[in-house]
Amino acid sequence: MTPSIPAELIERLSRAQRVVAMTGAGISAESGIPTFRDAQSGLWAQFKPEELASEAGFRAAPERVWQWYRWRYQQVRKTSPNPGHYALAQLQQRLPNFTLITQNVDGLHQAAGSTDVIELHGSIRRVRCLDNDCEEQEWPENSTGTPPKHSCGSLLRPAVVWFGEFLPEQALADAIEAVENCDLMFSIGTSSLVYPAAELPLVAQQNGAVVVEINPNPTPLSTRADYVLTGAAGVVLPELVKALPGPV
Ligand code: OAD
Repeated sequence: MTPSIPAELIERLSRAQRVVAMTGAGISAESGIPTFRDAQSGLWAQFKPEELASEAGFRAAPERVWQWYRWRYQQVRKTSPNPGHYALAQLQQRLPNFTLITQNVDGLHQAAGSTDVIELHGSIRRVRCLDNDCEEQEWPENSTGTPPKHSCGSLLRPAVVWFGEFLPEQALADAIEAVENCDLMFSIGTSSLVYPAAELPLVAQQNGAVVVEINPNPTPLSTRADYVLTGAAGVVLPELVKALPGPV
């Protein structure tokens, strides 16, 4: 079903000086990447986050964690952006000042053409060393078995944020600056359960922004959002772009 986009929202979007969109796993669901909290198919329904997504889990069983991320990285490399990712890349071109923040580590926004994406939870396409934070842009060629060591002597790990870790400082600072100063913020395909990301739409709203949620299911943000567009991101976002006035 095609959702109808309120005309008033389109008008507010066209008038906005600064727009922010924040995405979560739901935007990549239509590309075939499992979300985290879906009751049946979500990653956290099948795997224990404390064993696979924490420093303690990695130190206890580096090979298991490395191989799990390597498997996920290989899955992600086989996927492509979907109409939701492309619509956000188009919004960046159509709107004067548009910032994209993502909790996703899959790199599909960049693959769709979005630029300057703020990656709050890092990227599964990169690796870094466990002890010294040296980041490498590529996984090592031979990454089967135990994680290799970086030239600094420390084990390599995926460059994603694990439970109990701080978010990358610059990414978080850039995200906060963007939400504090926007007039309209989209929260797309996220369960709004993981902090500090979940707080960002509320910060935007406290600073006067209109908050729009796009999600097929209700979340804790739904009752606070100014508009809730119920549906899949890959359907709603292209509709939204189509509804914007001006040349397509
Ligand atoms: P979740 O798995 O918690 O939530 C996914 C959301 O996407 C749910 O609210 C779904 O209803 C929604 N959804 C599903 N299909 C959709 C579609 N086609 N279009 C739009 N929405 C759809 O994923 P996140 O909120 O991203 O952290 O999870 C946040 C963080 O928790 C992740 O970044 C990850 C995880 O632990 C780290 O890895 C640090």
